[in-house]
This record gives sequence, structure tokens and C-alpha cells, in this order.
Amino acid sequence: MKIQIINGPNLNLLGVREKSIYGNTDFETYLDGLRKRYTDLVIDYYQSNVEGEIINKLHEVGFSYNGIVLNAGAYTHTSVAIADAIAAISTPVIEVHISNVYKREEFRHVSMLAANCKGVIAGFGMDSYRLAVESFLIK
Ligand code: DQA
Repeated sequence: MKIQIINGPNLNLLGVREKSIYGNTDFETYLDGLRKRYTDLVIDYYQSNVEGEIINKLHEVGFSYNGIVLNAGAYTHTSVAIADAIAAISTPVIEVHISNVYKREEFRHVSMLAANCKGVIAGFGMDSYRLAVESFLIK
């Protein structure tokens, strides 16, 4: 099974950025643990701070992979273009957030993407990614 994780803007700074919200671990370290836990899955990773690059990656993997785990960061709350890209592809997408966005500022309560996603996981720290990966294993 092939899973693509896509992280959007500022998520390259995990472990450095706002640690009280996003924790102390950088994504590469977390991903290493995830890959070791699911050795029979292919888990590819891509990060970009650029909206169009995230869309290009969705197009690239969105007809061949089994699942996409997408943390679009702040684009979650603004991007009609990413919402359209999710609607355009056939691979199911899980929207993921490290923080519980519903406990935070009101602008973070709105997702432009959720209605086009298979599901949404928020608020479990980095383990939000693990839960999203596991959701693809449910038969
Ligand atoms: C985030 C939540 C977003 O509101 C924020 O802009 C992020 C990270 C999260 O993982 O909690 O960059 O997607």
C-alpha cells in the first residue's frame, strides 16, 4: 500500500516553531518512527510552503496512491484551489492537524478542504498523522 504524506506551509519548522502548540519533534524524526512501525507500507513524504506545489503533488500521486494524508497548514482555511485539487483526484485524502484547530482562533475553525476529504483528524499532536495512516488500513 502506498501512502503520501503532504505537509504545507511552515510545517518544515516542526520542532522549532511554536513548540507549546506543535511539540518538540521535527517531522523527519517522527516519520522515521512511522516508517519503522509500518514496514509493509510505502510512506512517501513531501513538504512545500507553496500552494501550487502542493496542488502539483496532489495531481502527481492522486491517481495511483492508495491514500494521501494532507496537513495543508494555513492553506486549510483559505485555499479553494487545494479543495478543487482534492475533488479532482481519485485517491482519498485525510485532512490532518497536529493541534485541535477547534480550540484555537475562529479563523482556524473553517476548513475549505474538509468537505472534499474522506475524513479529518485534529488535535492528537504528531500522532494525528499515525491515526490518518491507520485509517487507510481499516477494511
Ligand atoms: C495546523 C493548524 C493550522 O491552523 C496552522 O495554520 C498550521 C498547522 C496544525 O497542524 O495544527 O500551520 O494545520
